[in-house]
Amino acid sequence: KQAEKDGYAHFMLKEIHEQPRAIKDTLSGRIAAGDSGVTLKEINIPEEQLREMNKIFITACGTAYHAGLVGKHIIESLARIPVEVDIASEFRYRNPLLDRNSLVIVVSQSGETADTLAALREAKRKGARVLAVTNVVDSSVAREADDVLYTWAGPEIAVASTKAYTTQLVCMYLIGLYLAQQRGALGPGETAEIVAELRKLPGKVSAVLENGSDIENFVRQYSNCGSVFYIGRGLDHAVAMEGSLKLKEISYIHAEAYAAGELKHGTLALIEKDVPVIALATQADLFEKMLSNIKEVKARDAVVVAVAMRGLEEVAKEADQVMYIPRTHQVLAPVLAVIPLQLLAYHMAVARNCDVDQPRNLAKSVTVE
Ligand code: G6P
Repeated sequence: KQAEKDGYAHFMLKEIHEQPRAIKDTLSGRIAAGDSGVTLKEINIPEEQLREMNKIFITACGTAYHAGLVGKHIIESLARIPVEVDIASEFRYRNPLLDRNSLVIVVSQSGETADTLAALREAKRKGARVLAVTNVVDSSVAREADDVLYTWAGPEIAVASTKAYTTQLVCMYLIGLYLAQQRGALGPGETAEIVAELRKLPGKVSAVLENGSDIENFVRQYSNCGSVFYIGRGLDHAVAMEGSLKLKEISYIHAEAYAAGELKHGTLALIEKDVPVIALATQADLFEKMLSNIKEVKARDAVVVAVAMRGLEEVAKEADQVMYIPRTHQVLAPVLAVIPLQLLAYHMAVARNCDVDQPRNLAKSVTVE
């Protein structure tokens, strides 16, 4: 088993480091050179259905659900189609308003999650078109969906999902660009810009991984803390949710993610001296707002570790520590921003002697309801 870990201490760490390769493979053959956009041969939605499509639902569980939350922002901003995101165990019982003009995207690493499969079946029963994003070829979800877009992450062993999540995000960009293309929602200039940046993502993920040790000092000081808060706005909020889940899953530290603007409506009451706050600031449009939220928690003596995009260095004046991600198109920032959060959770779990790859009470794939 040690050999399978390629010299890494845990599968999770190995899988974190496999992300540049996994992202590259997931993009491979799907983005053309130049500005011709994306080619998704595996999606065969009839033209008329594409034209009439007026609503997209994304449904999934756990980390895949968090990829869906990012997907909503991406698809809405690129293709301008309204998107709702549902936890699969909620979706299947809420009698969703679906018809043949709805596209339901189910996201599942394993393709075997019982709730996700049931949501898929419910969507089909109601006449919706179902597109699966999954990592396992010929899984139940892949077999039952109308169209399948595979994430080429390779086998994911650690219970806490890492490379499956980032490749699910990549699929969200591909789907967003594809739908934008089909419906003429995006100019060729912007498509070309995003495609060019997508191509650079593996290299940029490697760069973030190289600075991974930046977090170790924080881990040494705070591995015994009772609670960690993750804050962000827009896409950063969705990434904050995934960061918080990673920490809970493997280090058993209580963590919560909040939309930064919502803090003042309740959660701010929990912020006091030395409470760690992980603040995401990758979105230039929301940067000023985010900065004032950081000031808000600093005023209560919280310890702030920021994850910020290069170019937004002003954050260093407020935060106690900043981990920078390389510049990219802001819609792509989640792929880079989640990496320091994965490493943070990992090192916290190791510092606390937790069973990183097999956390208590959790299973890699939950095939019962
Ligand atoms: C389990 C795993 C999670 C995963 C979720 C959904 O709870 O522990 O890591 O995100 O299932 O799994 P799926 O295979 O459907 O993506």
